[in-house]
Amino acid sequence: MKPPHILLIVGGGIAAYKACELIRLIRKAGMSVRCVLTDGGAQFITPMTLAALSENEVFTTLWDLKNETEMGHIQLSREADLIVVCPATADLLAKMAAGISDSLATTVLLATDTPVLAVPAMNVRMWQHAATQRNVARLRADGITVVDPDDGAMACGEYGPGRLPEPVAIMERIEAALSLPSRVRGGQVQRAEPGLASADAMSLPPRPSATPPASGRGEALRGKRILVTAGPTHEPIDPVRYIANRSSGRQGFAIAEAAAAMGAEVQLIAGPVHLATPPGVTRIDVETAREMAAAVNAALPADIAILVAAVADWRTADAAEQKIKKTGGALPVLQLAENPDILAGLARDARRPALLVGFAAETENVIAHAQAKLARKGCDWIVANDVSGDVMGGSENAVHIVTADGVESWSNLPKDQVARKLMEKIADAVR
Ligand code: CTP
Repeated sequence: MKPPHILLIVGGGIAAYKACELIRLIRKAGMSVRCVLTDGGAQFITPMTLAALSENEVFTTLWDLKNETEMGHIQLSREADLIVVCPATADLLAKMAAGISDSLATTVLLATDTPVLAVPAMNVRMWQHAATQRNVARLRADGITVVDPDDGAMACGEYGPGRLPEPVAIMERIEAALSLPSRVRGGQVQRAEPGLASADAMSLPPRPSATPPASGRGEALRGKRILVTAGPTHEPIDPVRYIANRSSGRQGFAIAEAAAAMGAEVQLIAGPVHLATPPGVTRIDVETAREMAAAVNAALPADIAILVAAVADWRTADAAEQKIKKTGGALPVLQLAENPDILAGLARDARRPALLVGFAAETENVIAHAQAKLARKGCDWIVANDVSGDVMGGSENAVHIVTADGVESWSNLPKDQVARKLMEKIADAVR
Protein backbone atom coordinates (compact mmCIF):
# COMPACT_ATOMS: atom_id res chain seq x y z
CA MET A 1 0.00 0.00 0.00
CA LYS A 2 1.28 3.45 -0.93
CA PRO A 3 2.48 5.42 2.12
CA PRO A 4 0.38 8.50 2.95
CA HIS A 5 1.37 11.73 1.27
CA ILE A 6 1.14 15.09 3.04
CA LEU A 7 0.93 18.52 1.46
CA LEU A 8 2.37 20.91 4.04
CA ILE A 9 1.49 24.59 3.65
CA VAL A 10 3.90 26.71 5.67
CA GLY A 11 2.51 30.13 6.62
CA GLY A 12 4.34 33.23 7.80
CA GLY A 13 5.19 33.36 11.49
CA ILE A 14 8.08 32.75 13.79
CA ALA A 15 6.68 29.25 14.40
CA ALA A 16 7.50 28.39 10.76
CA TYR A 17 10.81 26.99 11.96
CA LYS A 18 8.90 24.21 13.74
CA ALA A 19 7.62 23.08 10.32
CA CYS A 20 11.18 21.86 9.67
CA GLU A 21 11.03 19.48 12.62
CA LEU A 22 7.53 18.42 11.56
CA ILE A 23 8.81 17.43 8.11
CA ARG A 24 11.45 15.29 9.77
CA LEU A 25 8.78 13.54 11.88
CA ILE A 26 6.47 13.03 8.89
CA ARG A 27 9.27 11.36 6.97
CA LYS A 28 10.34 9.33 9.97
CA ALA A 29 6.77 7.98 10.13
CA GLY A 30 7.25 6.68 6.59
CA MET A 31 5.15 9.32 4.82
CA SER A 32 6.14 11.58 1.94
CA VAL A 33 5.68 15.34 2.10
CA ARG A 34 5.65 18.19 -0.35
CA CYS A 35 5.69 21.82 0.78
CA VAL A 36 4.01 25.03 -0.30
CA LEU A 37 5.68 28.07 1.25
CA THR A 38 3.72 31.33 1.45
CA ASP A 39 5.40 34.71 0.93
CA GLY A 40 5.12 35.30 4.69
CA GLY A 41 6.59 31.88 5.45
CA ALA A 42 9.53 32.66 3.18
CA GLN A 43 10.39 35.58 5.47
CA PHE A 44 11.19 33.04 8.19
CA ILE A 45 12.53 29.94 6.43
CA THR A 46 13.81 29.34 2.91
CA PRO A 47 12.50 27.06 0.17
CA MET A 48 15.95 25.47 0.19
CA THR A 49 15.52 24.28 3.81
CA LEU A 50 12.12 22.74 3.08
CA ALA A 51 13.35 21.15 -0.17
CA ALA A 52 16.35 19.60 1.57
CA LEU A 53 14.26 18.21 4.44
CA SER A 54 11.35 16.97 2.32
CA GLU A 55 13.55 15.85 -0.58
CA ASN A 56 10.89 17.30 -2.83
CA GLU A 57 10.47 20.44 -4.87
CA VAL A 58 8.97 23.35 -2.91
CA PHE A 59 6.18 25.43 -4.45
CA THR A 60 5.90 29.12 -3.71
CA THR A 61 3.87 30.82 -6.41
CA LEU A 62 0.77 30.35 -8.49
CA TRP A 63 2.34 32.20 -11.36
CA ASP A 64 5.03 29.71 -12.32
CA LEU A 65 4.43 28.52 -15.86
CA LYS A 66 6.74 25.52 -15.57
CA ASN A 67 5.14 24.31 -12.37
CA GLU A 68 1.61 24.95 -13.55
CA THR A 69 2.17 22.74 -16.60
CA GLU A 70 4.03 20.00 -14.75
CA MET A 71 2.36 20.03 -11.33
CA GLY A 72 -0.59 22.41 -11.26
CA HIS A 73 -2.16 23.67 -8.02
CA ILE A 74 -5.08 21.26 -8.43
CA GLN A 75 -2.73 18.30 -8.81
CA LEU A 76 -0.76 19.43 -5.73
CA SER A 77 -3.80 18.98 -3.53
CA ARG A 78 -5.20 15.90 -5.32
CA GLU A 79 -2.07 13.82 -4.81
CA ALA A 80 -2.19 14.45 -1.03
CA ASP A 81 -4.02 12.29 1.53
CA LEU A 82 -4.01 15.21 3.97
CA ILE A 83 -3.24 18.92 3.71
CA VAL A 84 -1.59 20.37 6.80
CA VAL A 85 -1.44 24.16 7.24
CA CYS A 86 1.32 24.82 9.75
CA PRO A 87 1.69 27.40 11.04
CA ALA A 88 -1.78 28.67 10.10
CA THR A 89 -1.63 32.43 10.57
CA ALA A 90 -4.65 34.59 11.42
CA ASP A 91 -4.49 35.86 7.83
CA LEU A 92 -4.51 32.34 6.32
CA LEU A 93 -7.41 31.28 8.57
CA ALA A 94 -9.37 34.40 7.59
CA LYS A 95 -8.78 33.78 3.89
CA MET A 96 -9.69 30.11 4.21
CA ALA A 97 -12.90 31.02 6.06
CA ALA A 98 -13.82 33.61 3.45
CA GLY A 99 -12.86 31.44 0.46
CA ILE A 100 -10.25 33.88 -0.80
CA SER A 101 -7.73 32.49 -3.30
CA ASP A 102 -5.06 35.10 -3.85
CA SER A 103 -1.92 32.95 -3.58
CA LEU A 104 -0.81 29.41 -4.32
CA ALA A 105 -1.56 28.31 -0.73
CA THR A 106 -5.07 29.77 -0.60
CA THR A 107 -5.89 28.58 -4.12
CA VAL A 108 -4.85 25.02 -3.26
CA LEU A 109 -6.98 25.21 -0.11
CA LEU A 110 -10.03 26.43 -2.01
CA ALA A 111 -9.61 23.97 -4.86
CA THR A 112 -9.38 20.88 -2.69
CA ASP A 113 -11.69 18.27 -1.26
CA THR A 114 -8.80 16.60 0.57
CA PRO A 115 -9.10 16.74 4.40
CA VAL A 116 -7.38 19.78 5.89
CA LEU A 117 -5.71 20.06 9.29
CA ALA A 118 -4.89 23.66 10.30
CA VAL A 119 -2.45 24.28 13.14
CA PRO A 120 -2.72 27.95 14.17
CA ALA A 121 0.05 30.00 15.75
CA MET A 122 -0.20 33.68 16.46
CA ASN A 123 -0.14 36.36 19.15
CA VAL A 124 -2.58 35.68 21.99
CA ARG A 125 -4.72 38.75 21.24
CA MET A 126 -4.91 37.87 17.58
CA TRP A 127 -6.04 34.35 18.53
CA GLN A 128 -8.62 35.62 21.02
CA HIS A 129 -9.92 38.33 18.70
CA ALA A 130 -13.60 37.85 17.84
CA ALA A 131 -12.74 37.84 14.12
CA THR A 132 -10.27 34.96 14.47
CA GLN A 133 -12.61 32.99 16.72
CA ARG A 134 -15.42 33.55 14.20
CA ASN A 135 -13.16 32.31 11.38
CA VAL A 136 -12.11 29.24 13.37
CA ALA A 137 -15.76 28.42 14.14
CA ARG A 138 -16.62 28.85 10.46
CA LEU A 139 -13.79 26.57 9.36
CA ARG A 140 -14.75 23.90 11.90
CA ALA A 141 -18.34 24.08 10.73
CA ASP A 142 -17.02 23.62 7.17
CA GLY A 143 -15.34 20.39 8.26
CA ILE A 144 -11.79 21.66 8.56
CA THR A 145 -9.90 20.46 11.61
CA VAL A 146 -8.47 23.43 13.47
CA VAL A 147 -6.15 22.43 16.29
CA ASP A 148 -6.24 24.62 19.41
CA PRO A 149 -2.93 26.38 19.99
CA ASP A 150 -0.92 25.77 23.15
CA ASP A 151 -0.75 28.16 26.08
CA GLY A 152 2.56 29.66 27.05
CA ALA A 153 5.14 32.41 26.69
CA MET A 154 5.23 33.71 23.14
CA ALA A 155 7.99 35.08 20.97
CA CYS A 156 6.31 38.52 21.16
CA GLY A 157 6.75 38.54 24.96
CA GLU A 158 3.07 37.93 25.81
CA TYR A 159 1.61 34.89 27.53
CA GLY A 160 -1.47 32.86 26.70
CA PRO A 161 -3.01 30.67 23.99
CA GLY A 162 -1.44 31.11 20.55
CA ARG A 163 1.72 29.01 20.58
CA LEU A 164 2.17 26.36 17.94
CA PRO A 165 1.88 22.92 19.58
CA GLU A 166 5.09 20.90 19.65
CA PRO A 167 5.83 19.03 16.41
CA VAL A 168 5.34 15.66 18.16
CA ALA A 169 1.81 16.69 19.15
CA ILE A 170 1.10 17.89 15.59
CA MET A 171 2.41 14.60 14.25
CA GLU A 172 -0.04 12.76 16.48
CA ARG A 173 -2.84 14.84 14.98
CA ILE A 174 -1.66 13.95 11.49
CA GLU A 175 -1.59 10.24 12.34
CA ALA A 176 -5.02 10.45 13.94
CA ALA A 177 -6.40 12.29 10.90
CA LEU A 178 -5.08 9.50 8.70
CA SER A 179 -6.49 6.94 11.12
CA LEU A 180 -3.01 5.58 11.75
CA PRO A 181 -1.61 4.35 15.04
CA SER A 182 0.86 6.83 16.48
CA ARG A 183 4.52 6.05 16.02
CA VAL A 184 5.77 9.27 17.53
CA ARG A 185 5.21 8.20 21.13
CA GLY A 186 7.31 5.08 21.37
CA GLY A 187 5.17 3.20 18.86
CA GLN A 188 2.17 3.25 21.20
CA VAL A 189 -1.25 3.78 19.74
CA GLN A 190 -2.61 7.13 20.89
CA ARG A 191 -6.24 8.08 20.78
CA ALA A 192 -6.99 11.05 18.54
CA GLU A 193 -6.86 14.25 20.52
CA PRO A 194 -10.25 15.89 20.88
CA GLY A 195 -11.10 18.74 18.58
CA LEU A 196 -9.88 16.69 15.67
CA ALA A 197 -12.51 15.45 13.29
CA SER A 198 -12.50 11.70 13.12
CA ALA A 199 -11.19 10.00 10.02
CA ASP A 200 -14.78 9.08 9.19
CA ALA A 201 -15.86 12.69 9.33
CA MET A 202 -13.01 13.51 7.02
CA SER A 203 -14.14 10.79 4.56
CA LEU A 204 -10.80 9.06 4.45
CA PRO A 205 -10.76 5.45 3.37
CA PRO A 206 -9.88 3.10 6.22
CA ARG A 207 -6.27 1.99 6.11
CA PRO A 208 -5.14 -1.53 6.87
CA SER A 209 -2.98 -0.28 9.71
CA ALA A 210 -5.82 1.69 11.32
CA THR A 211 -6.16 1.51 15.10
CA PRO A 212 -8.44 -1.38 16.00
CA PRO A 213 -11.49 -0.07 17.84
CA ALA A 214 -11.26 -0.36 21.61
CA SER A 215 -14.05 -2.19 23.33
CA GLY A 216 -16.21 -1.71 26.43
CA ARG A 217 -16.50 1.57 28.29
CA GLY A 218 -13.77 3.20 26.22
CA GLU A 219 -16.05 3.03 23.19
CA ALA A 220 -19.40 4.22 24.52
CA LEU A 221 -18.93 7.84 23.42
CA ARG A 222 -16.54 7.39 20.50
CA GLY A 223 -17.36 9.74 17.64
CA LYS A 224 -19.21 12.17 19.96
CA ARG A 225 -18.01 15.72 20.30
CA ILE A 226 -18.61 16.94 23.85
CA LEU A 227 -18.31 20.45 25.18
CA VAL A 228 -17.83 20.96 28.92
CA THR A 229 -17.57 24.26 30.83
CA ALA A 230 -16.04 24.24 34.29
CA GLY A 231 -14.84 26.42 37.14
CA PRO A 232 -15.80 29.94 38.13
CA THR A 233 -15.46 33.08 36.06
CA HIS A 234 -13.61 36.14 37.30
CA GLU A 235 -15.07 39.54 36.52
CA PRO A 236 -12.53 42.33 36.89
CA ILE A 237 -13.26 45.33 39.10
CA ASP A 238 -9.88 46.92 38.39
CA PRO A 239 -6.51 45.46 37.33
CA VAL A 240 -5.98 43.81 40.74
CA ARG A 241 -9.47 42.96 42.01
CA TYR A 242 -12.27 40.80 40.68
CA ILE A 243 -15.69 39.31 41.49
CA ALA A 244 -15.47 35.52 41.88
CA ASN A 245 -17.20 32.53 43.43
CA ARG A 246 -16.07 29.42 45.28
CA SER A 247 -16.22 26.95 42.39
CA SER A 248 -13.05 24.79 42.22
CA GLY A 249 -13.77 23.35 38.76
CA ARG A 250 -13.29 19.79 40.07
CA GLN A 251 -16.71 18.45 39.08
CA GLY A 252 -16.43 19.83 35.54
CA PHE A 253 -12.87 18.54 35.10
CA ALA A 254 -13.93 15.10 36.38
CA ILE A 255 -16.76 15.06 33.83
CA ALA A 256 -14.39 16.04 30.99
CA GLU A 257 -12.01 13.28 32.08
CA ALA A 258 -14.77 10.66 32.26
CA ALA A 259 -16.09 11.67 28.82
CA ALA A 260 -12.61 11.42 27.25
CA ALA A 261 -12.07 8.02 28.90
CA MET A 262 -15.25 6.84 27.17
CA GLY A 263 -13.84 7.80 23.79
CA ALA A 264 -15.43 11.23 23.25
CA GLU A 265 -13.67 14.24 21.72
CA VAL A 266 -13.85 16.65 24.64
CA GLN A 267 -13.38 20.39 24.62
CA LEU A 268 -13.12 21.76 28.13
CA ILE A 269 -13.67 25.48 28.52
CA ALA A 270 -12.23 26.31 31.91
CA GLY A 271 -12.48 29.40 34.07
CA PRO A 272 -9.51 30.28 36.31
CA VAL A 273 -8.73 27.09 38.28
CA HIS A 274 -5.59 25.32 39.47
CA LEU A 275 -6.23 21.90 37.96
CA ALA A 276 -4.27 19.79 35.51
CA THR A 277 -5.83 19.16 32.11
CA PRO A 278 -7.32 15.63 32.06
CA PRO A 279 -5.68 13.24 29.57
CA GLY A 280 -7.02 13.41 26.03
CA VAL A 281 -8.96 16.62 26.65
CA THR A 282 -8.57 19.86 24.69
CA ARG A 283 -8.66 22.75 27.15
CA ILE A 284 -9.46 26.38 26.45
CA ASP A 285 -8.78 28.73 29.36
CA VAL A 286 -10.94 31.79 29.87
CA GLU A 287 -11.35 34.34 32.62
CA THR A 288 -14.68 36.13 32.28
CA ALA A 289 -18.23 35.04 31.48
CA ARG A 290 -18.10 36.88 28.18
CA GLU A 291 -14.88 35.08 27.22
CA MET A 292 -16.51 31.78 28.19
CA ALA A 293 -19.54 32.57 26.01
CA ALA A 294 -17.25 33.36 23.04
CA ALA A 295 -15.23 30.17 23.58
CA VAL A 296 -18.42 28.07 23.73
CA ASN A 297 -19.59 29.67 20.51
CA ALA A 298 -16.25 28.96 18.82
CA ALA A 299 -16.25 25.34 20.01
CA LEU A 300 -19.56 24.51 18.32
CA PRO A 301 -20.83 22.29 16.82
CA ALA A 302 -21.02 19.65 19.53
CA ASP A 303 -23.22 16.58 19.99
CA ILE A 304 -23.49 17.07 23.74
CA ALA A 305 -22.82 20.09 25.98
CA ILE A 306 -22.49 19.87 29.75
CA LEU A 307 -22.28 23.30 31.31
CA VAL A 308 -20.91 22.83 34.79
CA ALA A 309 -19.26 26.25 35.17
CA ALA A 310 -20.40 28.55 37.94
CA VAL A 311 -20.66 31.53 35.64
CA ALA A 312 -20.80 34.90 37.40
CA ASP A 313 -24.24 36.35 36.85
CA TRP A 314 -22.93 39.90 36.96
CA ARG A 315 -19.82 41.82 35.96
CA THR A 316 -18.89 45.37 36.77
CA ALA A 317 -20.46 47.69 34.23
CA ASP A 318 -17.12 49.45 33.75
CA ALA A 319 -13.96 47.81 35.09
CA ALA A 320 -11.54 50.55 36.15
CA GLU A 321 -8.38 50.75 34.04
CA GLN A 322 -6.25 51.69 37.04
CA LYS A 323 -6.34 50.37 40.60
CA ILE A 324 -9.14 52.06 42.53
CA LYS A 325 -7.58 54.02 45.44
CA LYS A 326 -9.01 54.73 48.88
CA THR A 327 -9.83 58.40 49.02
CA GLY A 328 -10.88 58.65 52.66
CA GLY A 329 -14.22 60.02 51.42
CA ALA A 330 -17.18 58.26 49.83
CA LEU A 331 -16.91 54.50 49.32
CA PRO A 332 -16.59 53.36 45.71
CA VAL A 333 -19.86 52.14 44.16
CA LEU A 334 -19.81 49.06 41.95
CA GLN A 335 -22.24 49.32 39.07
CA LEU A 336 -23.13 45.82 37.86
CA ALA A 337 -24.21 44.61 34.43
CA GLU A 338 -25.75 41.21 33.69
CA ASN A 339 -23.59 38.59 31.97
CA PRO A 340 -24.87 36.55 29.03
CA ASP A 341 -26.58 33.31 30.05
CA ILE A 342 -24.48 30.80 28.12
CA LEU A 343 -26.77 27.83 28.77
CA ALA A 344 -29.98 29.63 27.79
CA GLY A 345 -28.23 31.07 24.71
CA LEU A 346 -27.05 27.62 23.64
CA ALA A 347 -30.58 26.23 24.07
CA ARG A 348 -31.85 28.84 21.57
CA ASP A 349 -28.92 28.51 19.15
CA ALA A 350 -29.49 26.94 15.73
CA ARG A 351 -26.45 24.75 16.50
CA ARG A 352 -27.94 23.54 19.80
CA PRO A 353 -26.31 20.23 20.80
CA ALA A 354 -28.68 17.26 20.72
CA LEU A 355 -28.27 16.82 24.48
CA LEU A 356 -27.85 19.95 26.58
CA VAL A 357 -27.12 19.48 30.28
CA GLY A 358 -26.98 22.31 32.81
CA PHE A 359 -25.95 22.29 36.45
CA ALA A 360 -27.75 24.11 39.22
CA ALA A 361 -26.04 25.25 42.37
CA GLU A 362 -28.77 25.79 44.98
CA THR A 363 -28.74 26.51 48.68
CA GLU A 364 -32.45 25.78 49.34
CA ASN A 365 -35.48 24.13 47.65
CA VAL A 366 -32.97 22.35 45.44
CA ILE A 367 -35.35 20.31 43.28
CA ALA A 368 -38.02 22.97 42.87
CA HIS A 369 -35.44 25.55 41.83
CA ALA A 370 -33.82 23.05 39.46
CA GLN A 371 -37.17 22.24 37.83
CA ALA A 372 -37.83 25.93 37.32
CA LYS A 373 -34.32 26.34 35.87
CA LEU A 374 -34.86 23.45 33.45
CA ALA A 375 -37.91 25.17 32.03
CA ARG A 376 -36.41 28.68 32.09
CA LYS A 377 -33.15 27.75 30.39
CA GLY A 378 -34.55 25.32 27.81
CA CYS A 379 -32.00 22.55 28.45
CA ASP A 380 -32.70 18.80 28.55
CA TRP A 381 -31.36 17.92 31.99
CA ILE A 382 -30.38 19.85 35.07
CA VAL A 383 -27.93 18.26 37.48
CA ALA A 384 -28.89 19.93 40.73
CA ASN A 385 -26.71 20.06 43.81
CA ASP A 386 -27.10 21.55 47.21
CA VAL A 387 -24.17 23.89 47.71
CA SER A 388 -25.19 25.03 51.17
CA GLY A 389 -22.43 22.81 52.72
CA ASP A 390 -18.84 22.56 51.45
CA VAL A 391 -19.66 21.12 48.01
CA MET A 392 -18.01 24.07 46.28
CA GLY A 393 -14.32 23.27 46.62
CA GLY A 394 -15.04 19.92 48.33
CA SER A 395 -14.46 16.46 46.87
CA GLU A 396 -17.98 15.00 47.15
CA ASN A 397 -21.34 15.84 45.68
CA ALA A 398 -24.94 14.66 46.13
CA VAL A 399 -26.87 15.38 42.96
CA HIS A 400 -30.38 15.09 41.56
CA ILE A 401 -30.83 14.60 37.82
CA VAL A 402 -33.89 16.64 36.88
CA THR A 403 -35.45 15.99 33.47
CA ALA A 404 -38.88 16.43 31.90
CA ASP A 405 -39.55 12.81 32.94
CA GLY A 406 -38.85 13.26 36.64
CA VAL A 407 -36.09 13.37 39.21
CA GLU A 408 -33.37 10.81 39.92
CA SER A 409 -31.50 11.37 43.18
CA TRP A 410 -28.03 9.93 43.80
CA SER A 411 -26.42 9.52 47.19
CA ASN A 412 -23.37 11.54 48.21
CA LEU A 413 -20.47 10.39 45.99
CA PRO A 414 -16.91 11.48 45.23
CA LYS A 415 -16.94 13.91 42.29
CA ASP A 416 -15.15 11.48 39.95
CA GLN A 417 -17.86 8.87 40.60
CA VAL A 418 -20.60 11.42 39.97
CA ALA A 419 -18.79 12.19 36.71
CA ARG A 420 -18.57 8.56 35.58
CA LYS A 421 -22.19 7.82 36.53
CA LEU A 422 -23.37 10.93 34.70
CA MET A 423 -21.38 10.11 31.57
CA GLU A 424 -22.73 6.55 31.58
CA LYS A 425 -26.27 7.93 31.82
CA ILE A 426 -25.50 10.33 28.97
CA ALA A 427 -24.01 7.54 26.84
CA ASP A 428 -27.19 5.51 27.36
CA ALA A 429 -29.35 8.50 26.45
CA VAL A 430 -27.55 9.26 23.17
CA ARG A 431 -27.02 5.67 22.09
N1 CTP B 1 -25.09 29.42 33.40
C1 CTP B 1 -24.64 29.93 32.23
N2 CTP B 1 -24.46 31.27 32.09
C2 CTP B 1 -24.74 32.11 33.13
C3 CTP B 1 -25.20 31.58 34.35
C4 CTP B 1 -25.35 30.22 34.46
O1 CTP B 1 -24.39 29.16 31.29
N3 CTP B 1 -24.55 33.41 32.97
C5 CTP B 1 -25.31 27.95 33.49
C6 CTP B 1 -24.41 27.24 34.47
O2 CTP B 1 -23.21 26.78 33.86
C7 CTP B 1 -25.29 26.10 34.90
C8 CTP B 1 -26.69 26.67 34.84
O3 CTP B 1 -26.61 27.78 33.94
O4 CTP B 1 -25.24 25.02 33.99
C9 CTP B 1 -27.27 27.13 36.12
O5 CTP B 1 -26.37 27.95 36.81
P1 CTP B 1 -26.78 28.65 38.17
O6 CTP B 1 -25.67 29.55 38.59
O7 CTP B 1 -27.27 27.61 39.14
O8 CTP B 1 -28.05 29.43 37.68
P2 CTP B 1 -28.36 30.95 37.43
O9 CTP B 1 -28.82 31.11 36.04
O10 CTP B 1 -27.20 31.76 37.84
O11 CTP B 1 -29.62 31.12 38.35
P3 CTP B 1 -29.74 31.69 39.85
O12 CTP B 1 -28.50 32.51 40.10
O13 CTP B 1 -30.98 32.46 39.80
O14 CTP B 1 -29.82 30.47 40.72
